[in-house]
Amino acid sequence: MTVSVEVLQSPTEAVLSAINRLLPQVSSSAVALDAGAVSRIIAQPGTSLLLARVGGQVVGMLTLVIFPIPSGLRAWIEDVVVDKSARRHGVGTALTEEATRRARASGVRTIDLTSRPTREAAIRLYTRLGFQARETYVYRLSDIDRRDS
Ligand SMILES: CC(C)(COP(=O)(O)OP(=O)(O)OC[C@H]1O[C@@H](n2cnc3c(N)ncnc32)[C@H](O)[C@@H]1OP(=O)(O)O)[C@@H](O)C(=O)NCCC(=O)NCCS
Repeated sequence: MTVSVEVLQSPTEAVLSAINRLLPQVSSSAVALDAGAVSRIIAQPGTSLLLARVGGQVVGMLTLVIFPIPSGLRAWIEDVVVDKSARRHGVGTALTEEATRRARASGVRTIDLTSRPTREAAIRLYTRLGFQARETYVYRLSDIDRRDS
């Protein structure tokens, strides 16, 4: 299976429907995106939405965010997902390798990501590419809407 990975430059209808097919496969709470929302994401400085294609069809995506903070230039990888029909053929590997290549080329100090222990495929993917689990807590404030209202 030949996989190509590209950075999304502008969302076509086909790309948009692929993104909205993939999104629920990585986040059950995410809402569908329209062209404006995708355009705003990719217009953010430091944010790249990588798409993986097989035979011209978008079968996976990954978001890479590179940002400077006082301790250095850092990167996060988020929303890594491959369509159920295309898994176990190296697509996730191709996406993550391209993201790490781009992050390294930008001169980042570290590349972080998180994954739940139950996500066996993701854990296998990341550890095989050299990511190591760190002893740290991930804190989340998730009732933002209620606090603001
Ligand atoms: C995680 C995910 C992106 C992997 O994509 P993929 O294209 O199947 O990954 P690859 O084919 O590149 O496989 C990477 C490694 O994971 C292994 N793997 C893939 N699926 C696996 C599974 N279900 N169980 C165990 N290992 C698995 C592969 O065998 C491969 O390791 P190997 O080469 O040593 O055999 C995909 O399973 C997915 O989208 N899952 C749902 C969303 C998700 O969990 N995203 C990650 C959020 S942190």
